[in-house]
Formats: sequence, structure tokens, C-alpha cells
Amino acid sequence: MWRLFILTIVCSTIATSENSRISTRDWDILIFTQSWPNTVCLQWKEKYENHTCLVPIRKNEWTIHGIWPTIYGTHKPGYCNTTWKFDESKISPIEDELNKYWPNIQNGSSETSLWEHEWEKHGTCAASLPQLDGEMKYFKQGLAWAKKYSLTDMLSSSGINPSDGKYTVQDLVDAIKSSTNKNPAVECMTDKETGEEYLLEIRICFDKKLELIDCDGIEPLQQGLLTNCAPSKEVFYPSNVPPVHKKPPLSDNIIREGNAKKQKISYLDTLLRIITFLQWLTL
Ligand SMILES: *[C@@H]1O[C@H](CO)[C@@H](O)[C@H](O)[C@H]1NC(C)=O
Ligand SMILES: *[C@@H]1O[C@H](CO)[C@@H](O)[C@H](O)[C@H]1NC(C)=O
Ligand SMILES: *[C@@H]1O[C@H](CO)[C@@H](O)[C@H](O)[C@H]1NC(C)=O
Repeated sequence: MWRLFILTIVCSTIATSENSRISTRDWDILIFTQSWPNTVCLQWKEKYENHTCLVPIRKNEWTIHGIWPTIYGTHKPGYCNTTWKFDESKISPIEDELNKYWPNIQNGSSETSLWEHEWEKHGTCAASLPQLDGEMKYFKQGLAWAKKYSLTDMLSSSGINPSDGKYTVQDLVDAIKSSTNKNPAVECMTDKETGEEYLLEIRICFDKKLELIDCDGIEPLQQGLLTNCAPSKEVFYPSNVPPVHKKPPLSDNIIREGNAKKQKISYLDTLLRIITFLQWLTL
């Protein structure tokens, strides 16, 4: 009972301080997120059976997801100026480059839908900085950072390459840090059927002067690392789009037992995540 009470107090305190935070400052840090297209494709295919992916022009290279102005510990703000709609003509001079470095691989959605989403949700918030106050500046900055901080190169120079093998999150973090000297965040996608973890995104962070800084504070630490990957597992960095696992027939008892075991493991992971999150909250 008292636990619930404390939790309620903690939550309402956070909610209140959050609100006052939002009213007193816009955002704290810029997160530059790059995606691993093979995992993005898996995620897209798992959403609907009939989904297909477009192969990026630069095969087996990381792609840009977006530049996200962020208040520490939140996914806010977003859609800061809803009247500032995406206008493709504003970026036509750099569209070929965007197609290479910032492609939309979700077949069936419009070609410009990723750019439109990133601009309207995040770009309109980044626009509070003079260096990013327009589509051209926002997208050009993404291109510049993708070239300067190539994840493909940074990982590869530490011997981490797309393969059938797995890596620890620590190895991935160390590889990035050996190039940037700053803490990145490493995000996974969990295959719900198999429990496998796939490398999905790596985030590096910048301050309002557009200088590289640690990502500390953007999300809770798990065993000292900024990650949502299950702490007990190693992570695939797949060289191909992994197979989509269809749901097993419910009549198959053996498969069901196997899933029950995996379920238990993922409960443990979830518990561990909640505990680390609470520790982080109370720091
Ligand atoms: C995929 O299936 C969904 C629902 O069945 C449908 O709405 C959608 O149009 C389909 N998409 C394609 C590309 O066929
Ligand atoms: C993309 O989707 C269309 C149908 O919406 C389909 O005809 C085409 O083959 C798909 N492309 C790929 C590369 O799968
Ligand atoms: C929102 O965007 C519009 C269109 O670019 C602009 O005219 C307006 O000044 C912006 N509003 C704010 C509060 O920045």
C-alpha cells in the first residue's frame, strides 16, 4: 500500500515539475538519431503482413531518422508550430542527397512522408535556434552530421560490422565513444515472437551551439548505459533484413511452452527496466 502511495507522490511531483519545466524553457538537447535500415524494414514488415520495404540507395549504410529537440527524460516537445507545414520545394536543391542519406524505406507510404513527419514534429521545434530555423537548414544539418559522424565507419573501425553474430551494447557504446568521446544512446527493436534484440537506432547528442555532448539524461540508464535494449541479451546488427516471424498456431503446445519461457525472461527484463527507471527518477 505504502509503495503505491510513494509512487503516486513521485509521479505527481514529476508531473508538476515537468509542467513548470515546459513553461519555463523550450528544450534541453538535440538528439541526432540514425537508423539501421534492415531493422527498420523488419519493424515495418511486422506491422502488417503485406508491407514491403524499399532498398536504400546506399546499401548496408546507416540512414538518418531525424534531429530531435528534447527535454531531458521526455519525448517532448513536438509539433511546435502547426502552421509551418512541410514544403518539398524548399529542399529541392538537396533532394538527391536526402534520398541517399535520409531515405524512406517504408514502401507504400509517400516518398516524402518521413521528411514531412520529421520537419513538422521536430523541425518546427528545432527552428527556435537561428541555425536551424527553416527546412533547408534543418535537413542540411542532418546531412552534415550523417557525413561527419558516420555510424557505419565508426562501428567498422572498432571491428563491428553487420553480420550474423551478436554484440553487447557495451561493445557498441565503446565503439562510438572511441570516435566521439561522448556517450551515445543505443536503441533496439525486440522481436516479439523470438525475443531477439535487433540494433535499430544509435543516437548522438548536441547542445544549442551544435557541439557534440553526452546524451546523459535523455533516458534512464540500464547497467550504466543509455539503452532500451534488454540488459541480459546481446544484440544483432543484421547484414540482411531478418526473417519476419509469423505467430505460431495456438494448437502447437511445444511452441507455446517455448514462448512461456521467453515470456518469463522478458518479464524479468521488464522488471529490471522498471527498477532502473525508478532509481533514475529518484536520483
Ligand atoms: C495492407 O493491408 C491493409 C489491411 O489489410 C490495407 O489497408 C492496405 O491497403 C494494404 N497495403 C498494401 C500496400 O497492399
Ligand atoms: C512497393 O509496393 C508496391 C505496391 O504498393 C509493389 O507493387 C512494389 O512491388 C513494392 N516494391 C517493392 C520493392 O517491394
Ligand atoms: C509559425 O510558422 C509560420 C510559418 O512559417 C510563421 O509565419 C510563424 O511566425 C511561426 N510562429 C511562431 C510562433 O514561430
